[in-house]
Amino acid sequence: MPQSLFSEFRISPSSTIKNRFVKAAMEENLANDQQLPDKKLFKLYQQWADGGVGLIITGNVMIDRWAMTGPGGVALEQGTSLAPFKKWADIAKSNNTKVWMQLNHPGRQVFKAMGGKNLAPSAVALNLGKHSDLFSIPKAMIDEEIEDIIYRFGQSALKAKQAGFDGVEIHAAHGYLLAQFLSPLTNHRNDQWGGSLANRARLLLEVIKQVRAICGADFDVAVKLNSADFQRGGFDIHDAEQVINWLAEHDVNLVELSGGSYEAPAMQGQSADDRQLAREAYFLDFTEKLVQRSPIPLMLTGGIQRYAVAQKVIDAGFSLCGLATALAYQPDMINLWYKKPEFRLNIPVISWSNRTLAALATMAIIKRQLRRMSQGDTPQLTDSPFLSLLIDQIKNRRRTKVYRRQLTEKSQSL
Ligand SMILES: Cc1cc2nc3c(=O)[nH]c(=O)nc-3n(C[C@H](O)[C@H](O)[C@H](O)COP(=O)(O)O)c2cc1C
Repeated sequence: MPQSLFSEFRISPSSTIKNRFVKAAMEENLANDQQLPDKKLFKLYQQWADGGVGLIITGNVMIDRWAMTGPGGVALEQGTSLAPFKKWADIAKSNNTKVWMQLNHPGRQVFKAMGGKNLAPSAVALNLGKHSDLFSIPKAMIDEEIEDIIYRFGQSALKAKQAGFDGVEIHAAHGYLLAQFLSPLTNHRNDQWGGSLANRARLLLEVIKQVRAICGADFDVAVKLNSADFQRGGFDIHDAEQVINWLAEHDVNLVELSGGSYEAPAMQGQSADDRQLAREAYFLDFTEKLVQRSPIPLMLTGGIQRYAVAQKVIDAGFSLCGLATALAYQPDMINLWYKKPEFRLNIPVISWSNRTLAALATMAIIKRQLRRMSQGDTPQLTDSPFLSLLIDQIKNRRRTKVYRRQLTEKSQSL
């Protein structure tokens, strides 16, 4: 029988989500200068909780404050004060909403301007054509650094649980550290962490084991995974199917499927190989077989902006639908759809020929909406992408300066 998008979904014996709509992770860059959530994030998350989604997944929270995806990001480590995280969870959980914290380590995807740690399975630099200079060559990790990553994911997950989050989502997609281990393009190791798929997936599975061992069974654990890297020779859909089977053996509650990386922004609907992604629900056709065979519930994210498309995703066998962009422009989209399923927005698409700049402008224009909401203002569909990119660059420069100052102080105190 077809599922209703407004039916409940039981994610585990102790946890039920009130409907099938999920606010997918969006890095907000709205933390305070100590990398902690505060007023701006609280205001933003209240709107998403009020807006009707069943589950909120936070923007990625770093497991190491000296390895950040961007300035103004949130970090949660051993020793971090829990009070602001408790408040964040409370707000997100109002209106009977579930909240998961997304945990991430950027690996090599750390902008050179940020500084800090730049680690990766192998010393393979990002290839962004003439923009490659935005990143530096990462350091290939030694065993102790890999062990530290496993430990940190466990500690951050434990703190998320103590703060009242219902679960965590481990970010193993979009070219960040765990995805770098999974992909043969970035993992050239010939030890137990590289080579075969079993070796490339070892770090992700060790992280999951650690999180489960520390947080127990009554805590949701999900993984965001690429259905493929959308790069020739990269992690592909057959790899994804095998990894999902392994994750199921390790009691993962849900896998969110996405795709791509900074090099190939498939999560924005652009592939870097010759495959065409769908115009809406980018990965739906591509993942048809995967969803039929998966032993655990799957969620699909990417290009879902209409109710009818969300229904197609659920009808195909996905348990949950992830929305990011749509909820950046209309935080109460789900409440609106409840009354009027045909409601839709005309969200602008930036189709500049320079793919890297287009991807950066897409992020910038959406983050501008998040900033507006965090100040109590309404998102705007008519923003100029060029101006939004410029504003983002200026804001980032200021926040990066603050971060770099802390980094210098830290290295002087060592
Ligand atoms: C501003 C912005 C920030 C994002 N930050 C994250 C993130 O922190 N973690 C993540 O897994 N995905 C992140 N994404 C990707 C989204 O979760 C999602 O996979 C992608 O935007 C496709 O979904 P959509 O078409 O509904 O926007 C981000 C996307 C945007 C636009």
